[in-house]
Amino acid sequence: DGEVFKYYFDGEWRKSSSGKSVGIVNPTSRKTQYKVQACTQEEVNKVIENAKTAQKAWAKTPLWKRAELLHKAAAILKEHKAPIAECLVKEIAKPAKDAVTEVVRSGDLVSYCAEEGVRILGEGKFLTSDSFPGNERTKYCLVSKIPLGVVLAIPPFNYPVNLAVSKIAPALIAGNSLVLKPPTQGAVAALHMVHCFHLAGFPKGLISCVTGKGSEIGDFLTMHPGVNCISFTGGDTGIAISKKAGMVPLQMELGGKDACIVLEDADLDFVASNIVKGGFSYSGQRCTAVKVVLVMDSVADALVEKVNAKVAKLTVGPPEDDCDITPVVSESSSNFIEGLVLDAKEKGATFCQEYKRDGNLIWPLLLDNVRPDMRIAWEEPFGPVLPVIRINSVEEGIHHCNASNFGLQGCIFTRDINKAILISDAMETGTVQINSAPARGPDHFPFQGLKDSGIGSQGITNSINMMTKIKSTVINLP
Ligand code: G3H
Repeated sequence: DGEVFKYYFDGEWRKSSSGKSVGIVNPTSRKTQYKVQACTQEEVNKVIENAKTAQKAWAKTPLWKRAELLHKAAAILKEHKAPIAECLVKEIAKPAKDAVTEVVRSGDLVSYCAEEGVRILGEGKFLTSDSFPGNERTKYCLVSKIPLGVVLAIPPFNYPVNLAVSKIAPALIAGNSLVLKPPTQGAVAALHMVHCFHLAGFPKGLISCVTGKGSEIGDFLTMHPGVNCISFTGGDTGIAISKKAGMVPLQMELGGKDACIVLEDADLDFVASNIVKGGFSYSGQRCTAVKVVLVMDSVADALVEKVNAKVAKLTVGPPEDDCDITPVVSESSSNFIEGLVLDAKEKGATFCQEYKRDGNLIWPLLLDNVRPDMRIAWEEPFGPVLPVIRINSVEEGIHHCNASNFGLQGCIFTRDINKAILISDAMETGTVQINSAPARGPDHFPFQGLKDSGIGSQGITNSINMMTKIKSTVINLP
């Protein structure tokens, strides 16, 4: 109806002075679904200035009060799960049930974060000087955790709500203020989520949300001298951000090529279920999706057959119908996926299903006999296309995993736990799952990528710690 959703500044919803908007295209209908404000650099300046002021008072607000407000926001978020989930369905074509799950999980994350914050920030350290050679007991050191200041949060399209609150809640409980730049696809869901924080009654200016074109305000935000920490989840842009950002703590999660190593002794039915869930849920648009299967040749035929049987049962269609496979986020994304598929075809991969595409909807596809000269052996499709590479030794599997530029997660399927541990030790990834597909959650577990997959570690506890710095006060005795 032509309405342009407002951005959030100083506790109020506002129109940008640019008079311009950014359209959000529904991946399913491929028509403009919503519009958001195209904020200007001047508006970003004001938001950050405001965030700086609000943070000073917030840092002095008792920890229990900060926690109380977060609990309130979590409850409101859960109450609003239906309308927020509807935005996720329309903006990013997330299957209806998964969209609701994302919001509920986000509420749980915020509550847990409030509790964890009270626990870990409510404690400090006390040291005495006489343990270090040459010192008498004349110095007492009081160590506590203090906030960083203004935290900039940039979540990705695939979890616009959950990966926003996973940055917002730790920042706030630790006494920081927060500036959110949501992804364009998912911006309206994010604005609605911010509204829940607004309703909870956080002080003005403590949280703000600016929308707009990355080309206009992206670098301006990430290079802004008023920003004291950047938490980013997304693609290659993160590498560019890390090169341009100033001397501020960075938390980056930039995708993966998660390998699934399958040994001969694995329970193949169980493996097949995990591969289908891991590879095809949300149409493969998860950084933790299974992105390459490395299976021992002797069991490969049997495994591929079982996976194919399960792929055949996946429903394909609109997210409103809660289909398993829904349109991928954009036309450029579908074109990229298609490029990988065509490259694999040209180089002789075995197509277990016929390649089929209608607009942004791509039918699930398993590619067998993929070889290292194919792009899909290394690149991240972020779509419902999964390569299988047959291996003749465990070493070959580990070698393929470690030759990747990515190092997010990986998984191993075997009944031999000793072997699994040895393989896990050899895999250069931030997490290895033994007998399960990769996943970020439960959300208090540490979550980190090696190499091009990221900087720092996330998960509730690690994020709270990362968004603080250490302050020492030393009492010198006469
Ligand atoms: O896309 C990246 C997310 O951090 C993955 O989260 O494992 O819960 O889907 P997930």
